[in-house]
Amino acid sequence: MEFSIRSGSPEKQRSACVVLGIFEPRKLSLPAEVVDHAARGHLSDLLRRGDMEGKAGTTLLLHNVPGILADRVLLVGLGKEKEFREKEFRAAISTAVKTLNETGGFDGTLYLTELTIKKRDVAWRVRQATMVALEALYRFDRLKSKKEDVRRPLRKLTFCVERRNELAAAEDGLLQGQAIAAGSGLMKDLANLPSNICTPGYLAEQARELADEHSLGIEVLERDAMEALGMHTLLSVAKGSHEPPKFIVLKHSGGKADDKPIVLVGKGVTFDTGGISLKPAPEMDEMKFDMSGAASVLGTMKAVAAMKLSLNVVAVVPATENMPGGGATKPGDVVTSMSGQTVEILNTDAEGRLILCDALTYVERFDPACVIDVATLTGACVIALGHVATGLLANTDSLARELLDAGQEAYDRAWQLPLWEDYQELLNSNFADMANIGGRASGTITASCFLSRFTKKYNWAHLDIAGTAYRSGKEKGSTGRPVPLLAHFLMARAASRP
Ligand code: BES
Ligand code: MN
Ligand code: ZN
Repeated sequence: MEFSIRSGSPEKQRSACVVLGIFEPRKLSLPAEVVDHAARGHLSDLLRRGDMEGKAGTTLLLHNVPGILADRVLLVGLGKEKEFREKEFRAAISTAVKTLNETGGFDGTLYLTELTIKKRDVAWRVRQATMVALEALYRFDRLKSKKEDVRRPLRKLTFCVERRNELAAAEDGLLQGQAIAAGSGLMKDLANLPSNICTPGYLAEQARELADEHSLGIEVLERDAMEALGMHTLLSVAKGSHEPPKFIVLKHSGGKADDKPIVLVGKGVTFDTGGISLKPAPEMDEMKFDMSGAASVLGTMKAVAAMKLSLNVVAVVPATENMPGGGATKPGDVVTSMSGQTVEILNTDAEGRLILCDALTYVERFDPACVIDVATLTGACVIALGHVATGLLANTDSLARELLDAGQEAYDRAWQLPLWEDYQELLNSNFADMANIGGRASGTITASCFLSRFTKKYNWAHLDIAGTAYRSGKEKGSTGRPVPLLAHFLMARAASRP
């Protein structure tokens, strides 16, 4: 998709289609008023006759509108003006782009980016519009033998801004939106692939391609290197599988040589059967998404590289399957982590924390500014926060605050849960330093308590994306979250760098 930014009057745009917003009930947005004027009241006539109310989600396509240069006008319902906020803006953009794509024109000129949203500037509106547009057009059909081709697909989108002095900010927003959408797109592609294609080895190959494309540093550790490092909790998960585990390290060096890096760690379980603590059959296919954390940190690296952020960022992905093979770890087995702490594995389905804890110990070597791990870690998080907010837990409140703010800015929001000492005792074990599960109560918190025992040496936050990384049912597929949150966090860090 080609994008551009323009300022200028809607009636003078030579375009296959100009897109204008209509508020409920039957109220023209400002650019629509301008067109209405040029068209001698054509639009207000239509509204008066009741052709459109302006309800959110509705559209009306017009041909031969008098007094304008565009071939068509697409009216998009925005809902009530008083209630027009981030969510409604995003929905309007999405509706407009999907409709344009099915309308047959090769290009569209959107005036929706001129609408005002409280506390959101033009860069925000264009950045969001770009991300939402690319999201609306995303397809994953590479495994279908017949592709459902759109007959005359949309090739170009133009976002309009009111004033010429907004052009530069809008261009910045556009580039950022494109970079973040490319990152989310990579995450979606990786996460949507089934586990027979997207194996740990495949993730390592994709990381290598990403490194080649953007000149990132890369290192992939094989099983023998993991053994030498003493990563036995990670290896205990890989033991039941025929697929060899991989430990991927990617580096973006956009900062000064002595800038401490921000480290992202992503859970890369390419399929989670539960291991010997086998999961029930219904919906087990969705456990191909259990590498969404890994996919999100790789996607974020793509966005960071595309934006050339002046930061040092390291992405670390422990990748393995969790299978119940003959060599698999059994409930009650005790293993020693890279940190030296011992773990009694009471449930082999609590495997995410077992691979993450060794990765979290490994990253100490980078002397990180902070570490953020991302994981589809607990079903309990889906119960607590549903599919709206990502779970956030942290050992440093200022870092948690930054991530919450980044989530708001990105419209990819997180919500903090407590990580109080009082929960730690739930992990007590009679046979090892700790158990890998804490019982049914507060499952997201006890999982984080487990991780917190491996993150004492640096500022750390954990994102539980079990409810937000993918959708089930008819719309089954990866959401690309939390790439926007992470990208915005890193953009803010880059902007505030001394
Ligand atoms: N990958 C799952 C978590 C999960 C569950 C993600 C549902 C998305 C949807 C994780 O490895 C897991 O199995 N967690 C267990 C932990 C339990 C055994 C303490 C869970 O949440 O049931
Ligand atoms: Mn599991
Ligand atoms: Zn899992």
